Amino acid sequence: MTMQTRNQMTVTVDDVVARESRHVLQTYKRNPVTFVRGQGVRVWDADGREYLDLLSGIGVAALGHAHPALARAVAEQAQTLIHTSNLFYHPYQGQLAERLAALSGLPRAFFCNSGTEAVEACLKFARRYWFTKGAPRAEFIALTESFHGRTFGSLSVTATEHYRTPFEPLLPTVKFVTVNDPAALTAAVSASTAAIIAEPIQGEGGVRPLTPAFAAAIRDACARSGALLIADEVQSGLGRTGQPFYATVLGLKPHLVAIGKALGGGVPIGAALVSQEVADTISFGDHGSTYGGNLLACRAGLCVLDELAGGLIDHVRKVGACFEQRLKAVAARHAIVKEVRGAGLMWGLDLGRDATPVVPAALERGVIVNRTADTVVRLLPPLVITEADADEALGRLDAALGAVGAVA
Ligand SMILES: Cc1ncc(COP(=O)(O)O)c(C=O)c1O
Repeated sequence: MTMQTRNQMTVTVDDVVARESRHVLQTYKRNPVTFVRGQGVRVWDADGREYLDLLSGIGVAALGHAHPALARAVAEQAQTLIHTSNLFYHPYQGQLAERLAALSGLPRAFFCNSGTEAVEACLKFARRYWFTKGAPRAEFIALTESFHGRTFGSLSVTATEHYRTPFEPLLPTVKFVTVNDPAALTAAVSASTAAIIAEPIQGEGGVRPLTPAFAAAIRDACARSGALLIADEVQSGLGRTGQPFYATVLGLKPHLVAIGKALGGGVPIGAALVSQEVADTISFGDHGSTYGGNLLACRAGLCVLDELAGGLIDHVRKVGACFEQRLKAVAARHAIVKEVRGAGLMWGLDLGRDATPVVPAALERGVIVNRTADTVVRLLPPLVITEADADEALGRLDAALGAVGAVA
């Protein structure tokens, strides 16, 4: 199949794959599909085949694809002024920070370009907090099954061995605690702990919500030791679970929250949201980013927040309940599904065995899902998904699970 490129040359899918294999650093094992267009929860490949998207580019395209308001905002801003750097003011960064403060209860934002940078910023601000107080604390407590990103700080608090090992030594001051083991957490946190970092629902680790008992242990440990709490809501935040942030659902009040993914609806932007107590310890020059929070990214962020405030979070709550019911009904029909976990529009089907074959089986049937933590099929549909589209997509997933189960 051929497609037009931006300079009107005709290329084939084979050309695309061949060129990448020669010139793109081979860090991604891609599925053999070339997407060229999207609309809402649907995308089309170069052969004109339609797919229902239950992944939204790993939780990024929260408004779906080619959302008219987002497309308009980005186009308008691109024609006006894209970037000026953080050496100057522009109208939108303060507006976006103000809106995020209203959503999170954390009054200040530092803008960056990705989830891993948001986590890096949180780790640095936690260290800076204790340094400014004149009682430096170096230690971070992180959880098994965690994923916080690929840069050195974020990787240091990420548990997965195969991401870590080739790059060691990482930060030596990280202690890992078994997720959802309250006693282990209580024993690990001390007066040397700068911060505990946790995803309220672990995403890459297999869509694992923290239990209420574990959340309570985090709360108690922070109160007892003074340790700060960093909630990594890069995947679970900004309406994904039917709430602005899942930490709140767990009764947690983080000092720092990392966000990214959905914030720009596809335009790269991340942020560290910061309590006043921590913000008071930060000085000019402590951290920075050339691109962070430029005009284009902030316009995209404002558009996403407009939609969230305009009823999208309520929509996720409603459609999420139907999604859960339908997904659990599908899961019950397949012996290969051992557990269903998640909330709102963030779900994992744990197969208890390698989930890899489900991805191509789903693609063949026109639905996009992903495998994570080896055994889990992960679903992160666009937040705008309707009940009808969810039904259709889960019907296709049902067929894919049937095909995989039949050859098990
Ligand atoms: C919870 C969490 N934190 C951090 C990251 C890193 O984000 P990015 O890939 O944008 O650097 C991810 C990415 O999947 C994530 O799920």
